[in-house]
Amino acid sequence: MPKFMLEDPRTEVYVGDCREVLAGLPAESVELIFADPPFNWNVPYSGWKDNMRRTDYLTFTYEWLDACIRVLKSNGSLWVNIPDDWAAEIVVHLKERGLQMVNWCIWHFRFGQCRDANFIVSKVHVLYFAKDRKSRIWNPDDILVPSDRASIYNDARTRSTRRPGLRVPLDVWYGDYLGRIQGANKERRPGHHNQIPETYMQRVIMGCSNEGDLVLDPFLGSGTTCTVARALNRRSIGIEFSEPTAASAFERIKSGAVRLGPDGKPTLESAPTDLGTGRRRRRDTLLYSDGVIPIGDDTEANRA
Ligand SMILES: C[S@@+](CC[C@H](N)C(=O)[O-])C[C@H]1O[C@@H](n2cnc3c(N)ncnc32)[C@H](O)[C@@H]1O
Repeated sequence: MPKFMLEDPRTEVYVGDCREVLAGLPAESVELIFADPPFNWNVPYSGWKDNMRRTDYLTFTYEWLDACIRVLKSNGSLWVNIPDDWAAEIVVHLKERGLQMVNWCIWHFRFGQCRDANFIVSKVHVLYFAKDRKSRIWNPDDILVPSDRASIYNDARTRSTRRPGLRVPLDVWYGDYLGRIQGANKERRPGHHNQIPETYMQRVIMGCSNEGDLVLDPFLGSGTTCTVARALNRRSIGIEFSEPTAASAFERIKSGAVRLGPDGKPTLESAPTDLGTGRRRRRDTLLYSDGVIPIGDDTEANRA
C-alpha cells in the first residue's frame, strides 16, 4: 500500500526497498521508469547505507533493474541516471535482458568537485532504453529546443524547416535550468542529496509518456519525478527507502513544480523569440574553435 497519495492525477508514494515494492506491482503496467539510484559514493542518505562492496552493489543494481523491466510495458522506456563507475555494467545488463538502447545521453554540469588526481567530474550518464525502439512512446515535438543554427548563426534556412528554429535536443544536456541543484537555486530542497533539475525530468517525461500515462521512480529522493509528472498530468509512483525522505518528498509534490510557465506548466527552455538576430545565446556561451559551449551553472538561469 502506498504511504502517501494524491488524486487528479493519481500520485502514489511507497516507503520501502524498491525491489520489494516493485515485486508487488502488476507486470507490464508502467509506461515510463526513471531511476536515479544511490551511486555507492557513501552519501549519508537517511537509513540507506551507500557504501556496499562492489559485488554487492552490482547484485543490488541487477535486482532492481530486473524488477523495473518486469513492470515496464512493451511500449515503455527505462531511463537510468548513473556515473562512470557503473554505467558500463548497467548497459551490458540491460542489453543482455533484451532491452534496446535508444540513446546514451550525458548530463553535463559545471561546478564539479575540485581535485588534482584526475580530471574533474562534470557529467552523469543518462541511459535511455526501451523494450522496443520502434513501438516506444516518443514525442519529439513536445521537447524541442532552439537550434544553434537559428539562434546563434542567424541562418535564414532554418525559417523554412518543418519546425522553424527548433530541433530535438542533443544527446549532451546542459544549459538553462539544467545545472546541478545547489546553493540558492530555487528548486533546492534542503536535506536531500543529488536532486535532479525539473527541466531534466520535464524532458524525459514529455518525451517518453503521454498525459494520463503512469511514470515510476524507484528512488524518489526529493520527489522530482512525481512533482514534474503531476505538473504534466501524468499518473506517478515514487518509491523511497527512507520514510522521512518520502514524507519530505510528498510535501514537495503537494507544493508543485517551481519552474512554471504562464499556462501553469513547466516551461521548456526559452523559445527563440529573437530568432534570426543571433542574440539569444550570446549571454551564456563561450566561443571556442568549432562552436559554442554553455557556461552552464554560471548562467543567471542556473543561479535562480
Ligand atoms: C540519488 S537519490 C534520488 C534523487 C532524486 N532523483 C531527486 O531528484 O531528488 C537516491 C534515493 O534513493 C533512496 N534509496 C536508496 N536505496 C533504495 C532502495 N533500495 N529502495 C528505494 N529507495 C532507495 C535513497 O534514500 C535516496 O533518497
